[in-house]
Amino acid sequence: MDDYHSPQTIIAANWKMYKTRKGAAEFFDNLLPLVKDQENLVVVCPPATLLMTIADKYADCGVLFGAQNIHWVAEGAYTGEISAEQAADAGAQFVICGHSERRHYFDESNEMVSHKVDAALNQNLRPILCIGETLEEREAGDTLEVLREDLFASLATVEPTTDIVIAYEPVWAIGTGKVASPADAEEAIGFIRAQLRELWGELACKVSMLYGGSVKPENIAELMACPNINGALVGGASLKAESFAAIINYKK
Ligand code: 13P
Repeated sequence: MDDYHSPQTIIAANWKMYKTRKGAAEFFDNLLPLVKDQENLVVVCPPATLLMTIADKYADCGVLFGAQNIHWVAEGAYTGEISAEQAADAGAQFVICGHSERRHYFDESNEMVSHKVDAALNQNLRPILCIGETLEEREAGDTLEVLREDLFASLATVEPTTDIVIAYEPVWAIGTGKVASPADAEEAIGFIRAQLRELWGELACKVSMLYGGSVKPENIAELMACPNINGALVGGASLKAESFAAIINYKK
């Protein structure tokens, strides 16, 4: 990847544990006519069961696909897991690493996340590394410390690269309808970029950084107006073609 680009704008959908083939087909039938002319990178991360079907069916439609999780080991006796190679083979070009739901419900540590990011990069998958503070941490005034700790530890083994995407997802804003104010999101993402710069130097200015947490058609434009925010990772509002299209087509 060249060294002179500014961060790509990326609008990514995280479908979590929603949709089967029928719903996915309806979604794409409705979405594609609505986003024909957009220039930004659009990524859909469906459940693993849908990845191959939709990546095959909608190859060349302008949308890229991502997995929601991988194991960090290349292959082995890990019932229920999928490897980076398997995700790539199924058509993924991205993979979400260290989403807060995986950190909290499945005890994923920063160390595991760091190895997942490495495993992804080794298979030419672009990791979307998620970090974000809980409400308790924010109220205790620990937000920046938590972000710094999670960022550094989640990248402990990772070589500098603009292939990585970083998503700031405050846990208290996920699925709650409570979006971070643009000023809070910008402060956090600006801080993450400054920390990454300490770690990786100028390359940090070219890494795409997304905001995630109750992104909707009504708040995307003000979030995207923030200088450090290069896109969004969208949960609930990405499940309906109309609202996801409205987010993709936000007016500057
Ligand atoms: P919501 O957009 O539903 O708040 O989810 C955000 C998220 O977790 C994306 O990864």
